[in-house]
Amino acid sequence: MSTSPLENLPHQTNEILATIQAFTSLEELLEAEAATIGKRSIFSSLQRSLGALEPDARRDAGSQLQEARRLVEVAFASRREELARLARDVTLAEDRLELGDVVVSSVRWPVAAGHPGLIATTQRQLEDVFVAMGFNVSEGPEVESDWYNFEALNIPPAHPARGLWDTFYVELGDPETVVLRTHTSPTQIHQMEEAVRTNSLPIHAVMPGRCFRRDTPDARHLATFHQIEGLVVDRGLSFADLAGVIETFTRAYFGADISSRLRPGFFPFTEPSAEFEITCTICRGEGCRTCSQTGWIELGGCGMLDPAVFEAVGIDSDEWSGFAFGFGIDRCAQMRHHIADMRALTENDVRFLRQFS
Ligand code: PHE
Repeated sequence: MSTSPLENLPHQTNEILATIQAFTSLEELLEAEAATIGKRSIFSSLQRSLGALEPDARRDAGSQLQEARRLVEVAFASRREELARLARDVTLAEDRLELGDVVVSSVRWPVAAGHPGLIATTQRQLEDVFVAMGFNVSEGPEVESDWYNFEALNIPPAHPARGLWDTFYVELGDPETVVLRTHTSPTQIHQMEEAVRTNSLPIHAVMPGRCFRRDTPDARHLATFHQIEGLVVDRGLSFADLAGVIETFTRAYFGADISSRLRPGFFPFTEPSAEFEITCTICRGEGCRTCSQTGWIELGGCGMLDPAVFEAVGIDSDEWSGFAFGFGIDRCAQMRHHIADMRALTENDVRFLRQFS
């Protein structure tokens, strides 16, 4: 009795279908799929065995086998999808934030709001005082040519006054030597050149900004510091106008009990020149260690514009007169807030900075 090669097919198919359902790993399922319906699978060998059958029987067996194979294929496909979905869900579950995570990441440590530093604040306040007196505010470059920082200010190359303003020189080759500006006075030259170019004299301007000197920092000096320059060019100005502006500024910024005095001094770009001092804010003029018992603190320099400077920028000194002043912004902050050591301004110690918010 010839037995059909497909005798066991229903049983085999059921077994295969049950196994498919039992797979829990997608990888193993895929391996089993290849082994069951792939090229060297049982379905392929059964297919081959049909070749020995009579044509009719072969056709019947063929469609029977087809049917079984289709069932198995469908079962594999749906189990494949199921397992893939499960795997996705697991990944999602792993990614999901747990309650604990939310609590941890929602803790906000108190963050203090920042505020402008003391130097910036002081600069604004100084500008405000001068704006109220009718001055404009402008700025100049921090890197200058030798001409703006020295020569146009009546400080020729070999002049001993250059020693006062020793700085960092960058030799770019003759004739251009570039320096980090040692004072804001070069902005006087820029202002006057601009006014000549645009035919816009008179000038009433203050120019704040950063300056640099080859200095060793100490309690009252920084190698990088700030100045504010004042420049007035007008007709018929006298030294009394200069003294009046300085005194008005001093009282407006430091208070009515602080006053100014001018002591004869020397600057190559002003004539006559003066040192500008204010009542020591620590002892209010009594005399203390900070002011070396004099009751006065030097804030900057000033004077009437030297005709040589007018000549350098092409302003007729018979028609125009002018005065200039320049003083330290950091020194103003130090005096107003009684800061013992100016280096605190640049050390970024928040305990210091916080006091000026
Ligand atoms: N530029 C001078 C300095 O830095 C100060 C000054 C400014 C003097 C303007 C006179 C006129 O010392």
